Amino acid sequence: MTTIRLVQGDITRESADAIVNAANSSLLGGGGVDGAIHRRGGPAILADCRKLRASHYGKGLPTGKAVATTAGDLDARWVIHTVGPRYSHEEDRSQLLASCYRESLRVADELGARTVAFPAVSAGIYGWPMDDAARIAVETVRETETAVEEVRFVLFDETAYRAFAGQVA
Ligand code: AR6
Repeated sequence: MTTIRLVQGDITRESADAIVNAANSSLLGGGGVDGAIHRRGGPAILADCRKLRASHYGKGLPTGKAVATTAGDLDARWVIHTVGPRYSHEEDRSQLLASCYRESLRVADELGARTVAFPAVSAGIYGWPMDDAARIAVETVRETETAVEEVRFVLFDETAYRAFAGQVA
């Protein structure tokens, strides 16, 4: 049974076995939580990402997939990078967003991670409405079979925290 916890704050300050990054398919950094993780985690994370690009993901990590690197200087053992979909008004991409949580938990299981911290994937620069992003995140974690004991959603601001709180109540 996986326990879901909600925290308001900066995910780069969290202690967890693995911290999930809302990356882009280049894996080479960006803004938002991605920028924050690379800044605080230091160059070891980017070095691992470059190796992954060279070895497995020449065209980039596809949307909805996840892959792990070192966590560098962060207080975690691994960073799990996942690529959320950009929100679309024309197309329902919910399954791709759900896949980010499923795939991240699958990678966490492979690593043996027991505590995993997630941001609200796709709900920033990628424009996903926060309430819907929270619903998909919580439903998917609840439906996924995993040995992860604690999933911690680390929400950057009060709006995000409330959206997630509405789902776990
Ligand atoms: N800790 C926790 N949550 C955070 C932090 C933080 N330090 N910083 C931002 N958030 P976003 P996306 C929240 O934009 O929408 C990057 O350029 C933020 O408020 O980081 O998946 C990537 O390289 C929002 O609620 O990710 C991609 O190009 C949530 O994290 C693109 O942005 C996700 O916002 C990915 O966009």
